[in-house]
Amino acid sequence: MAIRGARSAEGAPRGTERHVPVLLAQMLHAIAARDGQSYIDATFGAGGYSEAILTAAPGSRVLAIDRDPTALASGRWLAEQYPGRLQLSEGQFGDLDRLAATAGFAPADGVVLDVGVSSMQLDDPERGFSFQGDGPLDMRMSLRGPTAADVVNTADEARLADILFHLGEEKSARTIARAIVTRRHQRPIARTSELAQLVARVLGREKIAGRHAATRTFQALRIYVNDELFELAGALGAAERVLAPGGRLVVITFHSLEDRLVKHFFRERAASQPHASRHLPPQAEPSKRPSFQFLNHRPVSPTDTEVAANPRARSARLRAAVRTEAKPWDADSVGLSFPRLGP
Ligand SMILES: C[S@@+](CC[C@H](N)C(=O)[O-])C[C@H]1O[C@@H](n2cnc3c(N)ncnc32)[C@H](O)[C@@H]1O
Repeated sequence: MAIRGARSAEGAPRGTERHVPVLLAQMLHAIAARDGQSYIDATFGAGGYSEAILTAAPGSRVLAIDRDPTALASGRWLAEQYPGRLQLSEGQFGDLDRLAATAGFAPADGVVLDVGVSSMQLDDPERGFSFQGDGPLDMRMSLRGPTAADVVNTADEARLADILFHLGEEKSARTIARAIVTRRHQRPIARTSELAQLVARVLGREKIAGRHAATRTFQALRIYVNDELFELAGALGAAERVLAPGGRLVVITFHSLEDRLVKHFFRERAASQPHASRHLPPQAEPSKRPSFQFLNHRPVSPTDTEVAANPRARSARLRAAVRTEAKPWDADSVGLSFPRLGP
């Protein structure tokens, strides 16, 4: 849910849609911010998490990363509220260890990732993320690279079907892909409303299980355009490299593909695998000591009260772990059951 102009602090933007931070108290509990320590908020958005950390630990400092230049531009006022304590950095969280090193934030005492899109992105029709309202079919968080319209108008039918099936878990992926290709022979699909109506027509109804018929198609395209799963996998490895022993990694996800990836990462890194292959002599397989310890074995979900106040929180899941002293692992395993699909 977005609230309009709800910031109370002086200098805050007025009359703009703002993002309501999800699982805020639970994130603060998990990150356990302390004075004198350095934190990385790798998904700055509207700055709700950054501000909460800066307030909870008055001697701390935060490096705030976002790939969306408009998010950082609207966050400048917040940096002015906390002179010398909040540094803004435009970039992708898959690079967060390099961004942290450049900014003098490595090693860090905590990393928080609140993945997905913000309400400002979702609610602005010009950004093209949503089937509610009409806008250009864009979906790029960074405003750079191929748009969702480029993908639906140029990818071949089999690839479109793979994108919808794997990244949207859309059962009718092939039917929708075929309809997109047939339709674009007449004229390119340029607007969110055109795609939403096309999908609803192909599936024969506007709503499926209470959600718009195009929900999964839009999710798939958004994940593809922003290469979200591989960004997330990269960020987990980068956090493992940048965190000091005792530092905490807190990840909030919004759908099962993301949550599965985080669960797999934490399970793997928290389990000891002294000799991963029984076909190799022990000295050929470097021992992988646990690089994380679970803070919570089960994901934390929002309360009914939070969901009632902010329906967008409904599918949020928080997982957190503490960095051990073990060396970072080689970071190639990302825990996906299908090959990389990215622009
Ligand atoms: C859910 S919002 C974060 C909201 C934030 N916690 C708050 O309280 O306002 C997610 C933000 O992460 C950014 N983001 C998503 N993927 C990213 C990536 N790979 N690298 C950097 N930023 C990313 C989006 O642009 C968006 O602004």
